[in-house]
Amino acid sequence: MSVKCRRWVLKSHFSGMPKREDLDLVEEELPPLKDGEFLCEALWLSMDPYFRPASAGLALGSTMMGAQVAKVTQSKSSKYAVGDLVVGPFGWRTHTNVPETGYESGDLSTYMAKLDPTLYKDRESTALGVLGMPGATAYCGFLNLCTPKEGETLVVNGAAGAVGSLVGQIAKIKGCNAVGFAGSDKKVEYLKSLGFDEALNYKTMGSLSESLKKACPKGIDLFYDNVGGEWFENVLAQMNTFGRVAVCGAISQYNATEQPKGHYVSQLILGHQLRVEGFLTARWLEEWPKAFKQMSDWISEGKLKYEETITVGFDNAFDAFLGLFSGANTGKAIVKI
Ligand SMILES: NC(=O)c1ccc[n+]([C@@H]2O[C@H](COP(=O)([O-])OP(=O)(O)OC[C@H]3O[C@@H](n4cnc5c(N)ncnc54)[C@H](OP(=O)(O)O)[C@@H]3O)[C@@H](O)[C@H]2O)c1
Repeated sequence: MSVKCRRWVLKSHFSGMPKREDLDLVEEELPPLKDGEFLCEALWLSMDPYFRPASAGLALGSTMMGAQVAKVTQSKSSKYAVGDLVVGPFGWRTHTNVPETGYESGDLSTYMAKLDPTLYKDRESTALGVLGMPGATAYCGFLNLCTPKEGETLVVNGAAGAVGSLVGQIAKIKGCNAVGFAGSDKKVEYLKSLGFDEALNYKTMGSLSESLKKACPKGIDLFYDNVGGEWFENVLAQMNTFGRVAVCGAISQYNATEQPKGHYVSQLILGHQLRVEGFLTARWLEEWPKAFKQMSDWISEGKLKYEETITVGFDNAFDAFLGLFSGANTGKAIVKI
């Protein structure tokens, strides 16, 4: 039986804020399955800020990148059976013929796994969020690079998002003071409900430098940067000696058409004897299962909470993606097919 697939195709590379006309929504028939392949039907699509910078390297005509949770509906594979749930880098498409050896997507993300029903029993969509790539990013990035110690003060921006909301909570579990910044009063309330010691709306708080001083009277020991731009130098200026900085993202710069004029920060790094490290989360792929198990336990123990912002409908994927840049999401942004 022939299978129709709908997919979002990159028509022109984004310049500035992504536009709907940069993408096409196409329909095509999939070829029959070959031996060793299985057919996946998408259930949930992950929406991630990294699509914006990473798509610059995607060939025009390619399917938009990203992970999805899907159900196996046909199989010529001995490893994947009809009914299995998988997470894989299949991109923005409804149906995919997947070789059991792995899926070549041209994306940074290559993680493909069958969902362990004991871990994903409550909700399979968490394989794209708290028990997926963003969860691993928060857990591995924060613990490996910020190396938190009890009593230290963390600053995290993008704090109400998929990664940031987890970083702040993990910091609290490790006995730190968590200070978060997000883009609305509602998000600030959300952060307080998660146990953040201090939360501020960066859009209305006024001076960043003064707000940091007030929120962190003993200085900043750990900085988990999701936003970049002016945040970097302002936070670095107020860091304590031997502070650690994890450079996770720079969403404030992803749509910039010109490089911002900033100050040189090497003197701050030198003077405060800071350790600053950027990372791509896939470097810790082998640690991901341990991270998921630990975070799943914390969820069961009531120590870790997560939120999902669900956009319904494959046709609305672009709107969900765009929403990442205006702060439409709290927690993980996902599309329900
Ligand atoms: N290094 C890695 O391997 C890796 C892996 C995953 C994610 N990341 C990065 O980590 C960051 C967070 O990712 P995520 O998936 O958790 O996304 P997210 O935080 O769930 O969503 C993006 C959020 O960023 C905030 N934002 C958008 N534009 C902003 C701006 N100009 N200034 C300040 N905040 C802005 C918005 O919240 P507000 O309402 O608060 O503005 C928005 O909700 C991103 O920079 C992403 O690229 C890196």
